[in-house]
Parts: sequence; structure tokens; C-alpha cells
Amino acid sequence: MNVSKAIEQRRAVKAYDPDHRMSEPEIERLLSLAMLAPTAWNIQHWRFVVVRDPELRQQIRAAAWGQAQVTDASLLVIMTADLQAWKKEPARYFEGADDKTKDWLLTAMNQFYEGREWLQRDDAVKSCAIAAMTLMLAAQELGYDSCPMDGFDFDAVGKLINLPKDHIITMFVAIGKAAAPARPRGGKLGMSEAVVRDRFA
Ligand SMILES: Cc1cc2nc3c(=O)[nH]c(=O)nc-3n(C[C@H](O)[C@H](O)[C@H](O)COP(=O)(O)O)c2cc1C
Repeated sequence: MNVSKAIEQRRAVKAYDPDHRMSEPEIERLLSLAMLAPTAWNIQHWRFVVVRDPELRQQIRAAAWGQAQVTDASLLVIMTADLQAWKKEPARYFEGADDKTKDWLLTAMNQFYEGREWLQRDDAVKSCAIAAMTLMLAAQELGYDSCPMDGFDFDAVGKLINLPKDHIITMFVAIGKAAAPARPRGGKLGMSEAVVRDRFA
């Protein structure tokens, strides 16, 4: 499947075959493709929580307004991010660079993030969001459907998965075999509203 087809065919599917099981190699393939997504400074803030335990899935579903995707999708990935990843052995993010470049990057990254919690968080969220899309497009190619989700109680889910204090949950991605097609597409904005040429009027 080419990329345009995957983009066109991906829809937020809500109903999944609860009996379908995804193989471990498929799960690894999907996650390894998602991990090729770009991240700010190559920090790879993402920590993908793959929820396998059916009882935990039920508890998470209860914290997600009962949305069936949480229990019925073959794969539920909670996209979490380590907000402090930029400080954790950062030299490894620049592996392959020569020592001078590495030093420059480390200094520049520190200056970029130090004292700017909003930016630390924004970049972690951006990196996870791009990975989520990568995961959904990869799923499409493997013959699966998906649903991005943030309709849940973030604090409750954090407790259920023992989310570390310096991590956040960004969203869920549910992936599985559709049991019913997505609803017809909602209204799409026209280019004239969504695209700004050069500057706002
Ligand atoms: C950040 C985010 C959160 C979302 N949360 C939910 C959700 O909790 N439940 C759900 O069914 N769909 C959720 N969606 C899916 C959107 O409703 C869907 O993408 C949108 O209506 C457009 O439909 P399409 O993806 O099929 O084109 C979410 C999408 C995004 C990007």
C-alpha cells in the first residue's frame, strides 16, 4: 500500500472484532515502525505502554467513558512521554556525531529546554503525536484499522498504569480488525479556511 492510500483509507474506527489476536511479530513490526518517527533533538520521549491484561483493559475502558475500542481492539497502546528524557543520558541521542558536534548539541539542547517547561512538554507531545500517526499508517498497511483517542480520565489511567511522576499520557492508539466501518467523514474545512498563504489577513 502506498502512503497516499494509507492516508486516504485511515479512519477513526470505533468497532473492532474482540476475538482477533495480533501476533507478537506484528506488534513488534508496528512499534518498530513508529519508533522511526522524528522526535525533537532525537530525544524519543515516547514510552509505548502496550496493554495486554484484559482486566486492566476493562478498568481503562471504565475510565474512558466506556468506549469499546479500549477492550475490543487487538492492540491498545497508551502513548506516554518522559518529560525529563532530555536530561537522561542525552549523549546517546547524538550517537554517531563527532565529539565536537555532540558537545555543541548537548549545550544547545540544554539552553533550549532549561527553565522552559512548556517547551519540554510541547515537544514531548509533538513527538508522540507524530509517532501515533506513524503507528496508524503502518497499521493501515498491515490491514488493520485504528482510532486515536484522548477521551478518558488522564489521572485515573495514569494511576492504573503506574505512570511515573515525570511522565505524561498523551493519547491512546487502538488498533484492530474493524467490526463495522467508520461513520461517514465529518465536515472537512475548505482549503481557503485551513490554508494561509504567507500571513494571516
Ligand atoms: C487527539 C485526538 C483524540 C481523539 N479522541 C477520540 C476518542 O476518545 N474517541 C473516539 O472515538 N475518537 C477519537 N478521536 C478520533 C476523532 O474523532 C476523528 O479522528 C475525527 O472525527 C476525524 O475522523 P477520521 O479520523 O475518521 O477522519 C480522536 C482524535 C484525535 C486526533
